[in-house]
Amino acid sequence: MSEHALELLSISCTFLSKDDPGQRYTAVADTTLRVRAGEFVSVVGPTGCGKSTLLNVGAGLLQPSSGTVKVFGQTLSGINSRAGYMFQTEALMPWRSAIDNVMVGLQYRGVPEAQAREQAEAWLSRVGLSGFGDRYPHQLSGGMRKRVALAQTLVLDPDIILMDEPFSALDIQTRQLMENEVLELWSAKKKAVLFITHDLDEAIAMSDRVVVLSAGPATHPIGEFAIDLPRPRDVAEVRTQPRFVELHTQIWEVLRDEVLKGYAQQLRKAA
Ligand SMILES: Nc1ncnc2c1ncn2[C@@H]1O[C@H](COP(=O)(O)OP(=O)(O)OP(=O)(O)O)[C@@H](O)[C@H]1O
Ligand SMILES: [Mg+2]
Repeated sequence: MSEHALELLSISCTFLSKDDPGQRYTAVADTTLRVRAGEFVSVVGPTGCGKSTLLNVGAGLLQPSSGTVKVFGQTLSGINSRAGYMFQTEALMPWRSAIDNVMVGLQYRGVPEAQAREQAEAWLSRVGLSGFGDRYPHQLSGGMRKRVALAQTLVLDPDIILMDEPFSALDIQTRQLMENEVLELWSAKKKAVLFITHDLDEAIAMSDRVVVLSAGPATHPIGEFAIDLPRPRDVAEVRTQPRFVELHTQIWEVLRDEVLKGYAQQLRKAA
């Protein structure tokens, strides 16, 4: 069996309520999740269940209340330097051009300016943005900004890629193009990917394995499915395969009730 790149072991995360600090909210309870080197794992679950929380734990940005994170077998303390992170929200620096946004991580690492620029140019062209390096984020479309963010993450050549609903704000065509691009880049380098989404179609189309989380509070995995669809995949075409439909039916069976519970909870919270 191949090596584990990332292991979240018995992770629990309890937050103090913002409104009433005496109140505690256990978002994630006793969750174990492993991603092997080179494996593409998606985590699906209803809105607000704790997906971003788990990813933040894997990135070392959030200390869990209990449990351990291991990175290539070593216990993680502090930031996970083997991981690159693509956030759910827009994370480009608006005062920096596209190329400067892509370069920034390399510069933090002490890579000389000329070399950083060269690598950043190469990644911008790999994500289809050669010639756009001088544009500022507000001069780019939403899809282009996501491409810059992707280049920004991948230029650092992380062994683990953490993606938090990276494409959920995009229109369906742009989204499918980007999903295919990510799969192509991934298959060339075979990094470990932990991909968060609430979109089951996207999860199945992209992944080797799909993990379903329960609705909160005390979110935990309630199902795990190996996705045995052949690769390379085209995310739009793969959806028409009978095996895709079969997997979708099986996983939706588990996910559906949680989505309904999650939705009911959001309504209660809003009330
Ligand atoms: N720092 C925090 N303090 C208090 N509560 C928090 C904090 N971070 C997250 N939570 C709560 O934990 C739960 C899980 O949040 P999280 O952002 O992980 O959900 P999610 O599954 O990523 O949701 P979405 O699908 O909407 O992105 C939510 O109820 C949220 O309000
Ligand atoms: Mg989230």
